[in-house]
Amino acid sequence: MATKIAPSILAANILNLYDDISKVVAAGAEVLHIDIMDGSFVPAITFGANVVEGLRKRCEATLDVHLMIAHPSNHIEAFANAGADIITVHYEAVVDSDKLAEISKKIRKLGVKSGISINPQTPVSEIRDIIKNFDLVLIMTVVAGLGGQKYIDSCTAKIAEVAEIARDVSHDLIIEVDGGVSADNIHVPANAGANLIVAGSAIFGADDIGAAFVELESKLS
Ligand code: DX5
Ligand code: ZN
Repeated sequence: MATKIAPSILAANILNLYDDISKVVAAGAEVLHIDIMDGSFVPAITFGANVVEGLRKRCEATLDVHLMIAHPSNHIEAFANAGADIITVHYEAVVDSDKLAEISKKIRKLGVKSGISINPQTPVSEIRDIIKNFDLVLIMTVVAGLGGQKYIDSCTAKIAEVAEIARDVSHDLIIEVDGGVSADNIHVPANAGANLIVAGSAIFGADDIGAAFVELESKLS
């Protein structure tokens, strides 16, 4: 698939959320990344399923829900019913391979694509054998929990590693990268094999949100 950019609404103006989203959608965004934090798996608290439900009613973009929460299994139904198109759970929140496979099954049964995410300190070898159970692997290029951090260069090799596993098992995998991506470095994860790239502050922190999205996209061609 052609590489896509997923603006992360974490960096949007929450009191102006619909306006901010309309700007990226008008600029061509087809995927919106929604960071769910619970104050337990990560220190911050962000949105609940009601925000996903509100977005679903007002926009047609693919809703890419990134669950940075403990006990993700308990919340899958709520996010699926709210209208998520992709639900990604963190490997570190579950760890057990059988439980992760069950979670993926549960997500897919609800008609939603399933994703597994790894933090920068987690090696790809931890998820190698379960990648086949998922539609998407999300490689964090910052420590999960906060926008506006610096891209961790050592994570680039992990993108290439996941891309190689996907090739080996001939698996049509979405390889997503999240954290610290800007117009200056978006070519790095893209060249390593990412086909879905999240950007928060590089888009919503810009004076012209639409132009920032278009600029990022121009770096991919
Ligand atoms: C971090 C979140 C990211 C965040 C990225 O835990 O998962 O999605 O919004 O923000 P930037 O692009 O500003 O690093
Ligand atoms: Zn995210």
